[in-house]
Order: sequence, then structure tokens, then C-alpha cells
Amino acid sequence: MKKYYFDEIDSTQDYAKELCNKGQNNFVVFAKSQILGRGRSGRRWESPNGGLWFSFDMEFKDKKLFTLGIGVAVCEVLEEIYKTEIKLKWPNDIILNKKKVGGIICEKIKNKVVVGIGINTNVDFIKEKNATTFSSEIGIIKDNEDVMLKIINRCNEIEENKIIEKFRRNMAYKGENRFISSIGKEAKILDVSDTGRLIVEIDGEINEIFSGEIICI
Ligand code: BTN
Repeated sequence: MKKYYFDEIDSTQDYAKELCNKGQNNFVVFAKSQILGRGRSGRRWESPNGGLWFSFDMEFKDKKLFTLGIGVAVCEVLEEIYKTEIKLKWPNDIILNKKKVGGIICEKIKNKVVVGIGINTNVDFIKEKNATTFSSEIGIIKDNEDVMLKIINRCNEIEENKIIEKFRRNMAYKGENRFISSIGKEAKILDVSDTGRLIVEIDGEINEIFSGEIICI
């Protein structure tokens, strides 16, 4: 795997997308800080020194299960490293003690996906509402790069037929009422379907949601 390491960059995701467009394969872009870190839905992503910010390329598979699978891989590695329970908020936010500690963005370029992962590892404080950091809740880790390489390996080892079962095991807010962005109202979070959709109850009816996200307010 080709490694592109930076002290500071606009966005590892944008750099990785350029590499992909130029036909590069099997690379990772890692930066100690990002000036223009991007989240999903055009949001900004705070990326100070100390956190883990990286993007890499993968072969494209089924999109919804793909992003859920990346979340499962990240969750497993973080649980092993920090020895604590990590939850997944559908579709792919990383949750620690009911607050967001990391996020994933997957963008399709040609026949590949550029996966961008941001984790608030050794970060004192994040301004974002409902967000937290591992160092403030648990403690400092020695080596961000080591965590990154473990995550990339795990992403490449994901067993397609285990994704949903593993996602269910770590699913956040099960049984709770939360706001769902794509329907613009609150719903009770019930489960995730075998195809990766979010199953919710709205006014006594069961519905499957395939886009949007759960918002915690
Ligand atoms: C989200 O939860 O909205 C997704 C956040 C993804 C952030 C990561 S940090 C590394 C990579 N570079 C970016 O600009 N964004 C992703």
C-alpha cells in the first residue's frame, strides 16, 4: 500500500479522490490535521492535531452494506484498543458514551470507493454538539498510525455475511425515540434490515428508511 503522509492538508478525502481519478490504486492518505475536513452532507469536520484523519481506496461492493461494514470494522478495532463498548449510529457514526467520537464517509469514484475516516482519538475538546473524544473519556493512545493500519486491514477482511449481525450487536439507540433526518420527524429505532435499511416505528407503523441519518437532539 502506498502511503501519503502530511502534517497538514486541506482534506485527506479530496486528496484521495484526486489520486483515484488519476488511476492510483491501493493507497492511504493520512494527515495530522486538516484545514478543510469534510463530513457527510457537506458538513465541516473539525480535524485538529492529535486526532486520526485518513482516507483510502477500496473495491466497490453493495453500497449500503459496504458503509455499514466499514463501521463494523472501525468499531471492532476501537473496542479492542480502548477495551470499551463502542456503538454504531445508523448508518455509520461511531458512538462512545452516547456521543459521536468518529465518522465515516464513503464516496464512489469510477469502480472504487474512497473511504474517509475521522476519529477523535488524542483530542482534548471538540466544539461540535453531542461529540466527544477518546482522550477526554478514556485516555491517550500512543500511536494513531497503528490504529489506522489495523482499521484498514480489518476493512479488507470484512465478511459480507456477518455485517448485519455485527451491526445489530452494536447498534446505538435501539428502542429509543430519535429524530430521523430523511423523514423530518421522530421515530422509534427498532432494528436494521438484512439489506441494511433502518427499521423504525412511526405512529404505530413499521417503516424502512434507506437514506438520511438518525439525529440526536
Ligand atoms: C461524518 O460523520 O460526517 C463523516 C466524517 C468523515 C471525516 C473524515 S476525516 C478524514 C477524511 N477527510 C475528510 O475531509 N473527511 C474524512
